[in-house]
Amino acid sequence: MSAIRHVLDVDDLSAVELAEVLSRAQVADPDRVLEGRGVALYFQKPSARTRHSTEMAVVQLAGHPVSVADHEAGIDTRESAEDVARVLGCYHAIIGARVFDHAILERMAAVSTVPVVNLLSDRAHPLQAIGDLLTVQQVCGTLPGRTVAYVGDANNVASSLALAAGSAGMAFRIAAPAGYGFDDDHLARLHAAGADVTSLDDPIAAVRGADAVYTDVWTSMGQEAEAAQRLRDFAGFTVTPELMDAAAPHAVFLHCLPARRGEEVAAAVIDGPRSRVWQQAANRMHAARALFWWLMDPIPGLVRATE
Ligand code: CP
Ligand code: NVA
Repeated sequence: MSAIRHVLDVDDLSAVELAEVLSRAQVADPDRVLEGRGVALYFQKPSARTRHSTEMAVVQLAGHPVSVADHEAGIDTRESAEDVARVLGCYHAIIGARVFDHAILERMAAVSTVPVVNLLSDRAHPLQAIGDLLTVQQVCGTLPGRTVAYVGDANNVASSLALAAGSAGMAFRIAAPAGYGFDDDHLARLHAAGADVTSLDDPIAAVRGADAVYTDVWTSMGQEAEAAQRLRDFAGFTVTPELMDAAAPHAVFLHCLPARRGEEVAAAVIDGPRSRVWQQAANRMHAARALFWWLMDPIPGLVRATE
């Protein structure tokens, strides 16, 4: 029997596996690998894109999604994370979970009899990063040799994107205010996983010649008490039209969303001609469908031509 594969971050997939998932993301009529089966989608935090894209991905694979809010099942309040995973695995082929503490996912994966997929934790957002690579591929044609410049907080989204970029042969640059970049341990982990990360403190230097400029909120879910301080600390790190002009002439703007116009991005950028954020949001569903498909049937060579 093959080992169960959990996807808690992008580097749980090899470069070859990630490429396979990206190929399958372009297949509009996937195999019905979830026919008669369920997928549990557990949320400790709010979600629009992730909940809807994963639910519809399961439907497209002929399965039945069951979304669960934390107040209904109560990880570590009503029941331990381990017991929740054991129980959901009795009914479902895959467990997706969005949690505050990444360690909860590791505890669930340690006992789960079915794959556990991270739907966002404080540390990582792998489904976002897979959808982001798909978007860059659609926009640029190819991934190797491309550069994505991330301006803002070195958070869950940035970390998974750095890993995904590295796996696809792309360079990742990040400009963050002092104290908000990747610390040395984090950078060492990213580099050890094959990421090509350059840390800068100047947004203009970071975006120079980049193919894509990316940002995320300055205050992530769970950090609300720090919001006022972060607003002050991130001054000067807004993605403005002037900053976009410093990137490559063909550069596009990306954001995982939700966005705060006037903070991490100017309205003129996110609502402007270089923005690809809606295409990016749509790609979340294609990425989720491809990953769930691969988890159910990882044998390479199944991908069919898209034309
Ligand atoms: N980008 C993203 O994960 O959005 P949601 O928080 O709405 O799921
Ligand atoms: N960094 C953000 C991403 C939301 C999709 C957060 O964790 O809240």
